Amino acid sequence: MPATPFDWIDDEARRRADAGLVRRLRPREAEAEPLDLASNDYLGLTRHPEVTSAAADAARRWGGGATGSRLVTGSTALHAELERELAAFCGFEAALVLSSGYAANLAALTALTGRGALIASDAGNHASIVDGCRLSRAETAVVPHADPEAVRKTLRGHGGRKLAVTDSVFSVDGDAAPLAALAAVCRAEGAALLVDDAHGLGVLGEGGRGALDAAGLAGDADVVATLTLSKSLGSQGGAVLGPARVIDHLVNTARTFIFDTGLAPAAVGAALGGLRLLRREPERALRARTVATALYEGLTAAGLTAVRPDAAVVSVRAPSADAAVRWAADCRTAGTAVGCFRPPSVPDGISRLRLTARADLTDEQIARAVETVRRTAPQS
Ligand SMILES: Cc1ncc(COP(=O)(O)O)c(C=O)c1O
Repeated sequence: MPATPFDWIDDEARRRADAGLVRRLRPREAEAEPLDLASNDYLGLTRHPEVTSAAADAARRWGGGATGSRLVTGSTALHAELERELAAFCGFEAALVLSSGYAANLAALTALTGRGALIASDAGNHASIVDGCRLSRAETAVVPHADPEAVRKTLRGHGGRKLAVTDSVFSVDGDAAPLAALAAVCRAEGAALLVDDAHGLGVLGEGGRGALDAAGLAGDADVVATLTLSKSLGSQGGAVLGPARVIDHLVNTARTFIFDTGLAPAAVGAALGGLRLLRREPERALRARTVATALYEGLTAAGLTAVRPDAAVVSVRAPSADAAVRWAADCRTAGTAVGCFRPPSVPDGISRLRLTARADLTDEQIARAVETVRRTAPQS
């Protein structure tokens, strides 16, 4: 048979299969789900009737889609309302809503750096930060994980624009970044600090106001945050928070904002519903952290190697990528869905199970999840 231009895809697929790294879509049914410790629905809001009603009301009033870029027809009064409420809740001067957290990171990184700039990016940062750095055309130095001194050495001496970027809570191990120390380094070196608070919003800070609130950095003139609306707020979409002049600059220059259709009204409505619920029920944030600690303690008491969680992500070591996939599948068969992280999603090559704490899990469900993970663990 003559070669086709896509034959190399089969070679790559074989290599992936040999390494145990094949990924498959597994559509879930709306009902009869297993016990869910795999999603990012930290506060248990995505199916809350107030959130789903807010989504439905917004779709009925504003339509199924935003109809255009935010700069043309895609900005509704609802987008502006969400931006005001998000900024006020998290303690920032202004906010800008985008169609995803991924787009928010690309927007902030590309608009705030550029050719000739220097970015110090933590080695454990999320893929959307990695891609934002690449797209920015700035020089990017990948610095050792959670190491403010390495950031200082990297930034020192650079004459142009400079920025340090970090996840507030790292997706893989659930550990928190040393934000106060990073801010001090950035200040001393004249650099901006960009923090992706995807896993901190709704979980950390007073009543879930996020990691920057917890670190006393929210609203500072040299600090910018990015968020996703798809985890604690139970919706979809992303946002950038910061000084008003930064937000105005993004409106005028960030390509993932300008050349992208505005976030769908239903998602804006759901995010507003989730945010208002969180404001009214701040105890959900503490409950998510308490559940995470209970999961960690149960798993370590069972002899498994887990990382003490700083927020709602609990990470458990697996002996190999293959073993992690089998372990997660066995958990699912036993009625508990857990996440599975393996290369290339893990920068250190170590595969893990990833359990997400949810504020609405009962003590009985926590015990059941721990017992399932313990019982299905690979024998080492
Ligand atoms: C740390 C972090 N940043 C950004 C994102 C991207 O957000 P979104 O899913 O809204 O695009 C995610 C995950 O989805 C994330 O975990």
